Amino acid sequence: MNELLKIKNLAKIFETEELETHALKAIDLVINKGDYVSISGPSGCGKSTLLSIMGLLDFATSGDYFIEGANVTELSLDDAAEVRNAKIGFIFQSFNLIDELSVFDNVALPLRYHAEKFNNDAIIKRVTECLEQVGLSHRISHKPNQLSGGQQQRVAIARALVANPAILLVDEPTGNLDSKAGDQVMDLLETLNKSGTTICMVTHDPRYADMAKTKVRLLDGTILKAPTEKMTG
Ligand SMILES: Nc1ncnc2c1ncn2[C@@H]1O[C@H](COP(=O)(O)OP(=O)(O)O)[C@@H](O)[C@H]1O
Ligand SMILES: [Mg+2]
Repeated sequence: MNELLKIKNLAKIFETEELETHALKAIDLVINKGDYVSISGPSGCGKSTLLSIMGLLDFATSGDYFIEGANVTELSLDDAAEVRNAKIGFIFQSFNLIDELSVFDNVALPLRYHAEKFNNDAIIKRVTECLEQVGLSHRISHKPNQLSGGQQQRVAIARALVANPAILLVDEPTGNLDSKAGDQVMDLLETLNKSGTTICMVTHDPRYADMAKTKVRLLDGTILKAPTEKMTG
């Protein structure tokens, strides 16, 4: 099946004692296998909320959400974690690497959760492959704080790829980087997409949003205009 994610009439309301925030309203979105989608819009428009729901880190208030045809709208926390580990790779603005672990061990981490599927040789093979993909084979024993910001983000990308997720969900990947390192990370995402990785990236930077194949604009929790149609096949 070509359709990877489908969101139907989704809404998210955050309620605190004094305040009700309608963070997302009537969101419809389909992401197909192989696509590269950008979600852009000003600060506070709901981008991170939408990405969190797509990654099953949070849940909608109403509406429906399907991954590979399976309804994941109302999973238990345990089932959501299982789907998340199997299907989703995350990349955040703050690289979220573990300072005490080497580059190798940071990237290996998601595989160690699947100890029954990956023995040590398989882990070494897969981690090496992913570090090659992001151009960091020569930094395998370094600790994160011995790397530049751009290199740290590329380690985070390798970690996101290592368990072969169905989609990479990327939130402001260049937010902590200077423009040169940011451009390199964006080039890497584009290369990964060309080799078949499905990507959904959130950014407030229009220049980076334009690099995606399908551009979604969000304003005040609503999609501004229908995503650009793409030819299939
Ligand atoms: N956990 C939360 N509790 C209450 N309000 C929240 C929470 N998370 C986000 N919001 C609110 O939802 C809206 C969208 O936030 P967010 O998705 O982080 O926007 P963006 O990523 O586009 O900057 C904002 O008004 C924000 O204050
Ligand atoms: Mg955000």
